[in-house]
Amino acid sequence: MAHNDSRLNYSQEAWFNSLPELASEFHRRHQRPLVTISYAQSLDGSIATRNREQLALSSPEAMVLTHRIRAVSDAIVIGINTLLTDDPLLTVRHAEGHNPQPIVLDSNLRVPSSARLLNHSDRRCWLACTDSNSPQRCRQVEELGAELLCCGADLAGRVNLFDLLNLLGRKGIKSIMVEGGSQVITSFLESRLVDKLIITVAPRLVGGLSVLDRPAAGGSFLRLNSVSYQSCGPDLVLWALPNWQVT
Ligand SMILES: NC(=O)c1ccc[n+]([C@@H]2O[C@H](COP(=O)([O-])OP(=O)(O)OC[C@H]3O[C@@H](n4cnc5c(N)ncnc54)[C@H](OP(=O)(O)O)[C@@H]3O)[C@@H](O)[C@H]2O)c1
Repeated sequence: MAHNDSRLNYSQEAWFNSLPELASEFHRRHQRPLVTISYAQSLDGSIATRNREQLALSSPEAMVLTHRIRAVSDAIVIGINTLLTDDPLLTVRHAEGHNPQPIVLDSNLRVPSSARLLNHSDRRCWLACTDSNSPQRCRQVEELGAELLCCGADLAGRVNLFDLLNLLGRKGIKSIMVEGGSQVITSFLESRLVDKLIITVAPRLVGGLSVLDRPAAGGSFLRLNSVSYQSCGPDLVLWALPNWQVT
């Protein structure tokens, strides 16, 4: 398909080809999926408007890249606020390949029955929740077609990401793409559960919702290693590995 429009360098193209093997090896060693964070931001780091309305930031070329990443990932993760605001399908439409397993972090099962992920997806949506929900609500949501992944709660009462990734590892999920939004991206970074970042930077200034909802690395800041850039139509895509060493 149109992925010739975005010029990948050798190592970026190699990442796509080697991800299944890399992820299998990672899963075998760590019993959890390999985590790639991938989202689109404006030059000033906004991923949506200040009122959390969806912004079409990516160029068509960058959208193709995003869909290629979806297609090589076993599963795709979003937060419940993204479901509530964007009502996404999370399917692969602008590239070739399979639809990843959709997973929504929804501690308190706030998902509405009208969500497109419950009604128009070829895969049963997995809702990661905490064990604080009533059996009736759990049943209701299961009857809507979702599968529940019941996890422990973190200190804020939200889905404990370590529990979730262990559970996904046991279910044979070897790679996940975390698409957003801001709170979910921040939580994955804060928990140091990120293995790769592929960030589309669109040449726009928005002054909207910042991608990080609090410091990503405690009191310090997160450095990125092995940084490379790809031009994707008018956008710049940054590829990098997180460096968790505090300097
Ligand atoms: N530009 C992009 O690439 C992109 C991609 C995706 C989304 N977005 C935008 O992002 C915005 C939404 O971002 P957001 O920050 O408001 O919400 P979000 O990250 O989509 O969802 C946050 C919610 O997820 C639930 N959650 C469960 N476990 C969590 C955990 N461990 N850590 C964090 N959250 C957890 C929490 O709700 P409960 O406590 O109820 O569980 C939390 O309030 C939307 O405007 C959307 O358009 C942009």
